[in-house]
Amino acid sequence: MAAVPFDQLDGQIWFNGEFVDWKDAKVHVLTHGLHYASAVFEGERAYGGRVFKLTEHNQRLHKSAEILGFTVPYSVAELDAATIELLKRQGFSEAYVRPIAWRGSESMGVSAQNNRINVSIAIWQWGSYFNPAEKLKGIRLDIAEYRRPDPKTAPCASKAAGLYMICTISKHAAEAKGYADAMMLDYRGQVAEATGANIFFVKDGVIHTPVPDCFLNGITRQTVIELAKRRGYQVIERAIMPEELADFSECFLTGSAAEVTPVSEIGPYTFKPATISETLMNDYMKEVYPVAAAAE
Ligand SMILES: Cc1ncc(COP(=O)(O)O)c(C=O)c1O
Repeated sequence: MAAVPFDQLDGQIWFNGEFVDWKDAKVHVLTHGLHYASAVFEGERAYGGRVFKLTEHNQRLHKSAEILGFTVPYSVAELDAATIELLKRQGFSEAYVRPIAWRGSESMGVSAQNNRINVSIAIWQWGSYFNPAEKLKGIRLDIAEYRRPDPKTAPCASKAAGLYMICTISKHAAEAKGYADAMMLDYRGQVAEATGANIFFVKDGVIHTPVPDCFLNGITRQTVIELAKRRGYQVIERAIMPEELADFSECFLTGSAAEVTPVSEIGPYTFKPATISETLMNDYMKEVYPVAAAAE
């Protein structure tokens, strides 16, 4: 764990079209995004000096903002170019990329029609999301008390900061009990996802995953489904009830941060990371590196 606080790291941050010193990328305490969660963000990883699916992430940032009723004032191409330049300036080849767009501090109150839309991109070196040694054995998940909300009650298709409130609460509660993360059910009581990653299960050589109708259809989720199909595995997207977890032999999470992470336990249910988890974990790592993409 880095001893240096995140706001004290070195380098630059792209902030509203300019490259500013890392420590100067600040916002005012009366920022609308801070008070009312009017913010959308992305999480991306660079491998071998190239951000995996950069354009797809920036397209999703635009879509997330649209869902929250604002427009990101930089095109997807401008955000792509800014990220590529920033990655070069930071000098990293393996890194995490965090763009965020938020309503500014021009007025205070629920309504913020004329507040400036700010955008920043920060890039830092970041290893495995979960403890690497634990990752291979499979991580342990608790079952969260909070549930993913009904799409009628929250903008579920947006990667909106506000939706992470229940994720942080759930992850902290799980960590307090010694778990790495928590699996969240949805408003219907069906299996949804982890606090920052999608979830997959394996039964008799077939892959099962919940339908992303009230949580993000992750870019990694879509990539892993494609990789699984390339391998000839059958992938079934369907409603999964928590009681069914007893019937699955393998379980893994997918996400830009989490990559493919095998799971060994969810509450009372146990799984054994085996061929399918390991194959997809390795296939994903091959897929994200530029060499693999160039060789296709
Ligand atoms: C709540 C949640 N679900 C799913 C995902 C996976 O999305 P992606 O694969 O696009 O990173 C993430 C990570 O961004 C997430 O935070």
